[in-house]
Amino acid sequence: MKYNETFSKDLLEWFHQNKRQMPWRETNDPYKIWLSEVMLQQTQVNTVRSYYTRFIERFPDIDTLAETSIEEVAKYWEGLGYYSRVRNFHEAIREVQANYNSKVPDDPKAFLSLKGVGPYTQGAVMSIAFNHQLPAVDGNVYRVFARLDNDYFDISSTKARKHFEEKVMAVIPDDAGDFNEALMELGATVCTPKAPLCMFCPVQSHCLSFEENNQLNLPVKLKKVKKTVQQFKVLIIHKDDKIIIEKRPDAGLLASMWQFPMFEIDKHVSDIEEQMDISLYIEDTPFVKTKHQFTHLEWQMEVYTAYTKDEVSSAYQLISPENKNKYNFPVSMTKIFDYYIQNNL
Ligand code: ADE
Repeated sequence: MKYNETFSKDLLEWFHQNKRQMPWRETNDPYKIWLSEVMLQQTQVNTVRSYYTRFIERFPDIDTLAETSIEEVAKYWEGLGYYSRVRNFHEAIREVQANYNSKVPDDPKAFLSLKGVGPYTQGAVMSIAFNHQLPAVDGNVYRVFARLDNDYFDISSTKARKHFEEKVMAVIPDDAGDFNEALMELGATVCTPKAPLCMFCPVQSHCLSFEENNQLNLPVKLKKVKKTVQQFKVLIIHKDDKIIIEKRPDAGLLASMWQFPMFEIDKHVSDIEEQMDISLYIEDTPFVKTKHQFTHLEWQMEVYTAYTKDEVSSAYQLISPENKNKYNFPVSMTKIFDYYIQNNL
């Protein structure tokens, strides 16, 4: 380790002069800081800004959010992805209302026990909102410390979190919240993955990999996750002037969200008819083929227009396209829907 007590001072000074303005940096409200951290976990700052602002306008405090149905709350998350985040957050907020008098507990252990709160969220919220001296180690922080120490520790290893948390704890100052944010900010704006701006780095003089010109080889990530590919037939089924949609199961991927009925690509029409308990006319060729990427999964979809005259079971819903905004659709389905409407199909 090359960095010493001036390291955190140099970093904090830089942060105070250079930090980007963000709406959640203008507040001390632990609820708002928590929301921002949940949104930022898998989503870029620039996307989060507008979602955060809209969410806070509609749900300005814990009671308002706790007393709104998850269906309505999820509408404010539509397009952000990783929807289990909003379901867990809503459930956790209800726990806070029920058990902590509608106040985010100023107690790391109690906070960690809430739904959806892991060590990263715990460290970030507890340090930023209440200044607890806890690490908040995300991908940015792995990269910053791997480079500072010229450290080849594998960041895809299950031991990586502990390894890097210890490094943070060795240098964390009293001002833990700003320090954690400063590390993330450095990783996001200066110590970037492919083209780090070392000439502008406030802690360059503390950095071993800079000294050895080895920044670009770090951090080390050994495990490559292989994506599973799934292929589907997606049906836009018309009945009169309405379209059939269905709700996904209430657990798992895209839980409880709405979609056009979709089937494994090689499923035969007669099996689809049997499963839906209606007879169908399906056009011969798809009107569009599209893909959607999840973290470990790729959906390849062929989208067909189809028609039925039959009554559909209550497992399905018939909607007018003008009413589509009343339903929570994942991005993959919204894209198909918009394409469909724009092309007057
Ligand atoms: N990413 C996650 N949390 C963040 C924060 N508080 N500021 C900037 N980027 C972040």
